Amino acid sequence: MRELEITTKIDILQESELSQEETKLITSAKEATNNGYSPYSHFQVGAALLLEDNDIITGSNQENASYPVGCCAERTALFWAKANRPDCNIKAIAIAAKHSNDFTPSPISPCGMCRQALIEVEQQQKHFIKVLLYSKEGIYRADSIASLLPLTFGADNMKG
Ligand code: THU
Repeated sequence: MRELEITTKIDILQESELSQEETKLITSAKEATNNGYSPYSHFQVGAALLLEDNDIITGSNQENASYPVGCCAERTALFWAKANRPDCNIKAIAIAAKHSNDFTPSPISPCGMCRQALIEVEQQQKHFIKVLLYSKEGIYRADSIASLLPLTFGADNMKG
C-alpha cells in the first residue's frame, strides 16, 4: 500500500496583521452581508472579489422559497464578475457572515459547490486566488482555492 498525504497551510491572523488591501477586501465582504436575502436561514453572507485591476466585486447570498434555487454569496459575486469582466483575473476572495446582526465567531468557509465554481476560474486563469475568511476571533488566509479543494476535478481530468 502507498499513502498520499495532503496538507493545507492556513494562516490565522488578527486584523492588525492584515495588509491594507486585505483589510479593504474584508471590509467589502462584511458590508456585502447587509445585502444578503436570507428570510429562511437568517444567515447573511457576503463575498468580495479583488480583480487584477484592483476593482472589487461583491455578492451576497440570495435565498428562495424554493430552497435549492437560492445562491451563495461566493457564486453570486463570481458569476457577476465573470459575466461582466470575463477577461479580468481574480486575485483574492474575502468572505464574511453574520447571524442576527452578529458576525460569526469562527470563519465561514465556501461550500463544496462554491469551491468547485471557484477552482474552475482559478485553473482557467492560471493565477491563484487568495482566500480570506473573516470572523470576530480571527481571519483565516489560504494561498489558493486549490488548497481548500484537494483532489480537484477539473477540465484536465477529462483529457484522454
Ligand atoms: N451560504 C453562503 O452564501 N456561502 C457559504 O459559504 C455558505 C452558505 C449561504 C447559503 C444560504 O443562503 C445560507 O448561507 C445558509 O446556508
